Formats: sequence, structure tokens, C-alpha cells
Amino acid sequence: MKPIDPVRRGLTAALLLACLSPLAFAQDGAAPATTAASAPQAGKPNVVILATGGTIAGAGASTVNSASYSAAKVAVDKLIIGLPELQTVANVRGEQVFQIASESFTNDNLLVLARRVAALARQADVAGIVVTHGTDTLEETAYFLNLVVPTDKPIVVVGSMRPGTALSADGALNLLDAVTVAASADAKGKGVLVTMNDEIQSGRDTAKLVNIKTEAFKSQWGPLGMVVEGRSYWFRAPAKRHTTSSEFSIDRITTLPVVEIVYGYGSVPRAQVDAVAATPGLAAIVHAGTGNGSVADRVVPALQAARAKGIAVIRSSRVPAGFVLRNAEQPDDKYDWVVAHDLNPQKARILAMVALTRTRDSRELQRIFWEY
Ligand code: DGL
Repeated sequence: MKPIDPVRRGLTAALLLACLSPLAFAQDGAAPATTAASAPQAGKPNVVILATGGTIAGAGASTVNSASYSAAKVAVDKLIIGLPELQTVANVRGEQVFQIASESFTNDNLLVLARRVAALARQADVAGIVVTHGTDTLEETAYFLNLVVPTDKPIVVVGSMRPGTALSADGALNLLDAVTVAASADAKGKGVLVTMNDEIQSGRDTAKLVNIKTEAFKSQWGPLGMVVEGRSYWFRAPAKRHTTSSEFSIDRITTLPVVEIVYGYGSVPRAQVDAVAATPGLAAIVHAGTGNGSVADRVVPALQAARAKGIAVIRSSRVPAGFVLRNAEQPDDKYDWVVAHDLNPQKARILAMVALTRTRDSRELQRIFWEY
């Protein structure tokens, strides 16, 4: 393929970026706090879009750049203006909470976002909430909101795998589906949801299992439903505690305990775990084990030493499907360790942080991992 002339490439880029409106390109991190509101139409539900960045707000230099682009560039009011179909579904307005790529999310971002979601959910005039988000850590944010936002109103987290500037971009339909579900009464009480690639996924169950296709998010337990041509179709409901059935609430969380992850692999050195265990203020270690949460024999004493210092030890697995069986690969009862059930390491970390705001007792922690 003939290399693209840099001058032409530059012009193409400038032309493309200009057509997205100059306001769209907020400087990284200097996102305007905009609220785009159209004239509300009586009888239509009110849905608020909380924008945080990611590819769904991304832009590439050309239409063929579906995988190389800049995330977190387009402001929420441009996303809304660029998708007039939204207004056929609901009265939609937006708030720019952050403008970041989600790999850079922090615990503080989680707390700020959850507080805003909870505050909007308390408003009688808000029917549902959509959170636009980068897909890299979308599964963590969706699970966190599922645990700590006490509302039965639909909360739908959505992202995209391609920027809006790319051919066959997926963000527009994903966002329209998210607003459709957020506006739907039948989405109430189902916990935090994720709409990607026509599917309605559980915020608890789903994870990003493919890092370069639009069909990126999967749950080993399957989707909850689908959205097709503006209608949601449901086939199952979540089995674990969430939102209004959760014992946790963002209203009672001011900060999140320190929980870190260590990764298991052939020839893993004990030093890895010892180094993490020395983290100041560490409350728990999530061990991403091989297989069914296996721990290398040279690493077991490092985890035991951490436990002896009062650090909770939680066995997850690097294997994306299945669940870790208690007392199978390791004598969890004897070591006073916890198993993460079917939660992947990054979700186990989210639940551990939330659980540790309430208890340090390992039996209570295990109960929480069974129930959430
Ligand atoms: N930087 C990644 C993020 O913000 C882009 C991936 C995406 O949003 O799809 O998560």
C-alpha cells in the first residue's frame, strides 16, 4: 500500500477534525463542564449522560483509523448533537464529568462518578442515567456502580471500540442503545448494565475479552438481553446482590482501601508478592492465579506472611472463565484466605475495596464474595 503523503495526511486530519466542530476538541484534562439540553418534550423520559472520555469520545486522523486514534477528545454536547436520534427516545442532556482515557481512571474518579450518579438517581425527574466510558476499565467502573449506587433506576455504562471518525464506528449505535435502555421501565431493578454490540450485559458479569474487535465484551454467563432497532429484549436477570439490595452505599464511603493485584505465571518470583505486600496501607492482595487460582509453592509463604500482617488474601484466576473453588488448589480455611468466586482479578479488587470499607473479617469477606 502506497505510504500516505504526510502533507496530505495532515490536511486530511485537519479537515476531518474540523468537521467535528472546533469546540469538540477540549484540551486533554481540561474538559469543559457542559450541559447540552434540548427543549424537553412532555411524556418523554429524562435521561442524563455522564461523559468520562474514552474511545466513544475519540477521534482519529482518517476514516480508516479504527484502532489508532486519540481517546477522550469529543465533548458530551457534541456527542449528543451528533446523534439526533437520541431525542426520539428521551429528553437527553449531558454532563462532562471527566475527559480521560479509562486506563488512567483512579479510585478518586470512581468515587466522584458514583456520587454524581447517586445524586442524579435521587432526582425524581431523572428516569435513567448513561455513563460514557473508555472500554479498558469499563468493567471495573460498571461493577463499582453496581455495588454502591442505591437505586433501581437504569444505569447504563457504554463505550465503543472505534472512534466516531472511523468507518463502521460502533459508538453511535452503542450510545443510542444505552439511552434506549436507560429510558426503559423494563430495565429497572436489573443492576448496572452495559450496552455494547447490540447486547445488554450485566455490569457485574461482563468483561473486555477482546481488545481490538467491536464484539469485545462478554460474560461467561451470557448477556441479559439485546437491543434491536430501539427495543430491548430480556432473557435473564442478575442473580447476585446489587444496587438497592446491596449493603454498601456511596453515601457511606469517603475513601477506598488500598488493594493491589499480583499475577501468577511460570517461574514467578516470591519477590513480586513481597514487594506488593510492602505497599503502605495495603488492606488486601488479589492473587491472579494460574488455573483454578493456583499459587506457586514459592509464593505461598509470601501470601501467608502478608496474611500474618493483617492483609487479606483473595485468590482469583488469570483464566477468564470458570470460578475459583474454595479449599481446592489451596487450603483456604487453614490459611484464612478468601476466594473470588467467578470474579476476575480486577473485579475482585473492586469488590474487595468496597467490602473492606465495612469489614476486615475474612469470613465476612468470603460471604460478601459469595453474595456479590
Ligand atoms: N484508551 C482506551 C480507554 O479509554 C481506549 C479504549 C476504548 O475506550 O475503547 O479505555
